[in-house]
Amino acid sequence: MKNIIAPSLLSANFGNLEKDIEMLNASQCAWFHLDVMDGVFVPNISFGIPVVKDIARLAKKPLDAHLMIVNPDNFIGRFADLGVEYLTVHLEACTHLERTISAIHAAGMKAGVAINPHTNVLLLEDVLCEIDLALVMSVNPGFGGQKFIPRSVDKVRQLRQMIDRSGSECLIEIDGGINKDNVAMLASAGVDAFVAGSSVFGSENPAETIAFMANA
Ligand code: DX5
Ligand code: ZN
Repeated sequence: MKNIIAPSLLSANFGNLEKDIEMLNASQCAWFHLDVMDGVFVPNISFGIPVVKDIARLAKKPLDAHLMIVNPDNFIGRFADLGVEYLTVHLEACTHLERTISAIHAAGMKAGVAINPHTNVLLLEDVLCEIDLALVMSVNPGFGGQKFIPRSVDKVRQLRQMIDRSGSECLIEIDGGINKDNVAMLASAGVDAFVAGSSVFGSENPAETIAFMANA
């Protein structure tokens, strides 16, 4: 498999999460992407610790948690206890970002930093060598099913150059409006990991859609 595919459970069927989790376990996806929203950092509320706990019990692949919350520092220990592998916080939500990254590592997880569409990638420069994942939001966070913002492609290219120059091994993840039609183009721009919600769970055969994206 060429691409890391991280389906977002936000678009799964919450009435029967176990069924969707089993489908993902058997699919070619690499990670489970968990979108945690607090209704403050973003204008929506998704799910929190108890739901992540049940997902963690059933998932057979690494958990990639994307915290769209204010004060993420308060929850680092809780997500570490649940076995989360990648914990991603928003740059815009962290006053002392370097301290937050260190705390995530100290808790035994890999650290990700996400940037909103309006945030310049250059703001990641001073932490690039400390993080494991840089998440470029290609929609304004808060909702699934939005349209990909084209400018995100240039941001990915610029970030790829910054990472290569720095010698960092940080992965680039993209999140929002990802589908079968833009994965290959984004992979050649430098994306390593792709979050996909509605295009996976809204398709007729989600496992096939994942397989297509993983090898695109
Ligand atoms: C947006 C979330 C995304 C979202 C992606 O706030 O971070 O992970 O669920 O959904 P799609 O793939 O439908 O754009
Ligand atoms: Zn996300």
